[in-house]
Amino acid sequence: MAIIHENYSLKKLHTFGMDVSARWFAEAADLAALETLLQTARDKNTTHLILGGGSNILFTRDADCLVIRNNFRGIAVAAEDAEAFYVKAGAGEVWHQFVMYCIANGFAGVENLSLIPGSVGAGPMQNIGAYGVELKDVFHELEAWHIATGAVHTFTREDCAFGYRESVFKRALRDQYVITSVTFRLLKNPVLNTSYGAIEQELQQMGVQQPDIKSISQAVINIRSSKLPDPAVIGNAGSFFKNPVVSPEKVAELKALFPDLVSYKNSDTEYKLAAGWLIEQCGWKGYRKGDAGVHKNQALVLVNYANAKGHDVFELSQQILDSVSEKFGVKLEREVNIF
Ligand code: EPU
Repeated sequence: MAIIHENYSLKKLHTFGMDVSARWFAEAADLAALETLLQTARDKNTTHLILGGGSNILFTRDADCLVIRNNFRGIAVAAEDAEAFYVKAGAGEVWHQFVMYCIANGFAGVENLSLIPGSVGAGPMQNIGAYGVELKDVFHELEAWHIATGAVHTFTREDCAFGYRESVFKRALRDQYVITSVTFRLLKNPVLNTSYGAIEQELQQMGVQQPDIKSISQAVINIRSSKLPDPAVIGNAGSFFKNPVVSPEKVAELKALFPDLVSYKNSDTEYKLAAGWLIEQCGWKGYRKGDAGVHKNQALVLVNYANAKGHDVFELSQQILDSVSEKFGVKLEREVNIF
């Protein structure tokens, strides 16, 4: 039976580190606990909020509801074929610990996703990605608990409708399911992805001539540690905005005005712009007002130096949105969930 705490501080349970509290808080490690807790929320005539690793949320207020931390654990090889291991992980497992387990066992595919904060279950929710790999590339299936009926449903990759930092769980099925486990298809013979320039450079610096999943993981860890603030030291939720997707015509128009514009071709009709570059050009990099700020090494990351309030960071994000829109005519979209 899950213990329900009252007026519980969420400061240590989300990476922005604001001192907000939950009216009620409990952890769910299995379906029975989840079911009981959701019934409790109904009985109390309140709503619920499912929290994973808390690494993609900005609290702008206390959570006047029942906050349930997803704590489904366990990692095991569920199946195997000639090419791959199918590894099933509980949604509450810490993502980076799962990656380290894969590296130690020679299961290839998640090495580029090393050191991403958060839990396994949040991975498919927003199709986490970094250094040329997205979660969808290694995804096999997931199990999720349907809140309305209490049934467990299995979702294939197609069912999840993955996109850039997108899935069906952020859109059509938002708040309808609790992801309980994710199964990954991890290769026996690695297909290494070092296409992201910074990885090549880092491997060279490390003196690695023949990369393997371990050295790539280490290269990614080194790059992330040098660029991105450690949430244990400075509160943040990674990239606060998505990189905006624009038309080739818009890129041409902007390039004429700003020859240094950083853009990547997605397809013949879509280009991605580096939001960090746009924000830096507006003069925000390293900006600080009170304890809310823009990180000095990566303008896409908003930070809480100590005691910033959620709405300070939210307001800063609005000012950034407005200035990027004014200077470049590009509308940024927040990646972080706002509560
Ligand atoms: N840039 C600047 N100034 C900045 C930041 C970036 O000019 O302050 C330019 C640089 O030219 C740089 C380019 O933007 O080469 C791209 O920067 P970076 O490699 O840091 O990647 P990003 O596009 O800013 C994305 C993801 C990150 C992921 C990295 C690496 C999004 C929203 N963010 O950032 O993911 O780690 O690529 O693959 O897509 C996250 O989602 O929370 C996250 C950290």
